[in-house]
Amino acid sequence: METHIDQIKAEAVDELKAADDIEQIKSLSVKYLGRKGLVTLFLRNISQLPPDQRPAAGKQANIVKKALESAFETALAEISARKTDTGSDALDVSLPGRPACQGTLHPITHITRQICAIFGRMGFDIAEGPEIETDYYNFEALNIPKNHPARDMQDTFYVSDNIVLRTHTSPIQVHVMEQNAPPIRIVAPGKVYRCDSDLTHTPMFHQVEGLLVDEKVSFGDLKGVLQAFVHEIFDEQISLRFRPSFFPFTEPSAEVDILCVMCRGKGCKVCSNTGWLEVLGCGMVHPAVFENVGYDTSRFQGFAFGMGVERLAMLKYGINDLRMFFESDYRFLRQF
Ligand code: FA5
Ligand code: MG
Repeated sequence: METHIDQIKAEAVDELKAADDIEQIKSLSVKYLGRKGLVTLFLRNISQLPPDQRPAAGKQANIVKKALESAFETALAEISARKTDTGSDALDVSLPGRPACQGTLHPITHITRQICAIFGRMGFDIAEGPEIETDYYNFEALNIPKNHPARDMQDTFYVSDNIVLRTHTSPIQVHVMEQNAPPIRIVAPGKVYRCDSDLTHTPMFHQVEGLLVDEKVSFGDLKGVLQAFVHEIFDEQISLRFRPSFFPFTEPSAEVDILCVMCRGKGCKVCSNTGWLEVLGCGMVHPAVFENVGYDTSRFQGFAFGMGVERLAMLKYGINDLRMFFESDYRFLRQF
């Protein structure tokens, strides 16, 4: 009996030596170890041996079974390794590796830095303020009293009765003037929030506020600074226009529109068929605001502006839907 199982083993080993592909090895494995395999049948028939032979035969048969299992496994592993080395689906180790992908600055971050750098060269410092504001800084100090119709111009997210998500970066003007005496020359970038959403509006967007306070500041200075800025950021003499407007915290006030770069002024869905896209609001600081921060209105004048960063980015990069900036689509973002 023992001789019989050893014979099976010897035959299996010989056959395995001759096998040189995966299919052959698999079918040998079935022949010897499968449900009706020779080793399996041998084990099953042990019960028919005389009782005194059973233990030794069982022990030997199990040793053979284990040995063959591991021999088949090793043979399979060796053959697949050889295949990957030289076969048709071989791994080409001479191919260049895939480089780890490098991140880029978000286009909004990129253009915000450009804006601040341009104003930096004109002598403006950078200021910051909180995104969660009191009603006082976001409205009251800016000459927008409670129940004033101007509050409807901006759909506000209220945190509580007296606390809001800032609707613009203008409250930073108040913080800066409360803490510093004139002359003042700052730009203040940041996120702002409004209950608003379509092609050119998103509920969170970015503004850069500007404030200059000194003696003898005129609307002409404001125009000159903004014109120089627009021509620098667009690298060309792109058309812009000052359009009379209203803000409670500036007087006189204006909005600046830039010729729509999508349609070159012909009219399209980005510019609502007007040919122009509004990019900023501006004006001469209202005396009521100066009084709120204790500045001498007989001595100081100032101008202020607040620009929409996404709007500038749309025009600069030719993007026709502002919401793309916030969808985190890698195919879009990696272009910048
Ligand atoms: C203001 O927010 C004023 N604080 C600007 C200002 C500052 C005027 C200082 C005078 C002095 P306005 O609501 O128009 O104004 O917004 C300013 C700019 O932000 C707009 O010209 C536009 O470019 C951009 N903007 C406004 N709403 C949105 C929005 N929902 N999504 C994207 N950009 C917007
Ligand atoms: Mg506006």
